[in-house]
Amino acid sequence: MPLRPYIVGNWKMHGTRAMLSEARAIDRAAQRHMKVEVAIAPPYTLIHPVHREAEQIAVGAQDCHHEEGGAHTGDISANMVADAGGKFVILGHSERRENHGETDAQIKAKANAALEAGLRVILCCGESEKTRDAGRAVAHVKKQLNASLPTFDEQPEDLRERVTVAYEPIWAIGTGKTATVDDIAEMHGEIRALLIKLYGEEHGGEMRILYGGSVKPENASEILSTPDVGGALVGGASLTADSFMGIALAAGETAEG
Ligand code: 13P
Repeated sequence: MPLRPYIVGNWKMHGTRAMLSEARAIDRAAQRHMKVEVAIAPPYTLIHPVHREAEQIAVGAQDCHHEEGGAHTGDISANMVADAGGKFVILGHSERRENHGETDAQIKAKANAALEAGLRVILCCGESEKTRDAGRAVAHVKKQLNASLPTFDEQPEDLRERVTVAYEPIWAIGTGKTATVDDIAEMHGEIRALLIKLYGEEHGGEMRILYGGSVKPENASEILSTPDVGGALVGGASLTADSFMGIALAAGETAEG
């Protein structure tokens, strides 16, 4: 059975307890869209409160440290995310790479630590406008993924569910611009081939590859019906239940064909 479409909200640095009502509304709506897997990654401070109230959606973090603990002021480990009720972690987001200088090697260490802690991983990749204009987008993304995807001594049975890739062209994030369907299909096809090479057909052929960058209810159907797009990683439009669940609805319809 192929995995359900995965619609994940990245709340970034948005959300105080006042936003819990929105999380509740997302959770209630998700109970009516069981053909779609819905999840949100609020700021760390809301992981536990959302976990306590959610019945259907999974809650996760937007980053974690690669060590279990230690003298790392301000950091949070994968075990802490899991302890707070988090089920997954987004890693390698372009805003972390840019604002915190994260490298592929660090992201890989985080991914291995997260899987070790029992979390699922959503690993982000994506090129800048300059790189795309120079015709190097595919090469850049493949290099990022080769250097940051987790490695295993022995692949877990549920690997296809535990590792997800999110392709987010940087120039499409928060700009209202989206990549063309042809560009998305090309990139996702290249990522699929890489995942099969790394993890084999059984896992790599089935892992979900999300698209992210200005996904909205209005463009979701077109994006989500593109080959090898297994869901969406949504920023701005995940902040209200109305717009976020509009995307989930489109995902459900696409899955039904
Ligand atoms: P927007 O949906 O706001 O463009 O953000 C995308 C993103 O960065 C999700 O991780």
